[in-house]
Amino acid sequence: MTDSKTILITGASSGIGAATARRLADQGHTVVLGARRVDRLEAIRDAGGDVHIDRLDVTDRADVTRFVDAAVSTHGRIDVLINNAGVMPLSMLDALLVEEWDRMIDVNIRGLLHGIAAALPHFQRQGSGHFITVASIGAHEVSPTAAVYCGTKYAAWAITEGLRREVDPSVRVTTISPGVVESELAESISDPVARAEMKAYRANSIPADAVARAAAYAIGEPDGVDVNEIIVRPAMQR
Ligand SMILES: NC(=O)c1ccc[n+]([C@@H]2O[C@H](COP(=O)([O-])OP(=O)(O)OC[C@H]3O[C@@H](n4cnc5c(N)ncnc54)[C@H](OP(=O)(O)O)[C@@H]3O)[C@@H](O)[C@H]2O)c1
Repeated sequence: MTDSKTILITGASSGIGAATARRLADQGHTVVLGARRVDRLEAIRDAGGDVHIDRLDVTDRADVTRFVDAAVSTHGRIDVLINNAGVMPLSMLDALLVEEWDRMIDVNIRGLLHGIAAALPHFQRQGSGHFITVASIGAHEVSPTAAVYCGTKYAAWAITEGLRREVDPSVRVTTISPGVVESELAESISDPVARAEMKAYRANSIPADAVARAAAYAIGEPDGVDVNEIIVRPAMQR
């Protein structure tokens, strides 16, 4: 175990966020978990480690600010914010599921921006910090039914890279882009065509802990080493 850090994770109630929470807690870090399904967060906390939980809706800027500020006031500082919360209700554009487009924009883009807005002042004041964005392979390529989802992930990639270019080198910035990972993500797909296609596409998946290990690697590097980009996907995924 190296230095113990205080690490905040959004969308920690299932999938990648939950696996990352467990791995980092097992490594001896203090983890602060945010999501809307508090019962799921309680189960992770009850499994052991220095785990703190907080009901969080990343679409609400004030709620994200409160989440981050509360962690600073409880723990004295924050070292890492993992902006992981995301939704993926895929559909063809001509299905016109505009409310689902809006939800992806609100969670995947606005949620990320709310996290940056909440944590950046603390990182600047502390003279250290680490942003990790969980983007997607969808930040690198676009496929039918995923136009809006990929749009949000391209945006997440661009915002995170812009942040990296702008911030003082005392703040590290990492984008992790997973391929197909076991999680509940595809359950948000309401469109029957996209749902059937995704079932076949997602047959080859890797465990969420594969992404957790990538996050742990980036966090574990020394302060002067900034791991900027990681793509983790199933070997079978082309
Ligand atoms: N699994 C994959 O194949 C894959 C591939 C590439 C990228 N990703 C990305 O990985 C990230 C995690 O997804 P996952 O695969 O682990 O899926 P998941 O199991 O569905 O987890 C998504 C998490 O986001 C949270 N969330 C959704 N809306 C939220 C909101 N308004 N406020 C706070 N939290 C919210 C959910 O918690 P609550 O519902 O409890 O709020 C849940 O914890 C996402 O950004 C996703 O786009 C996943």
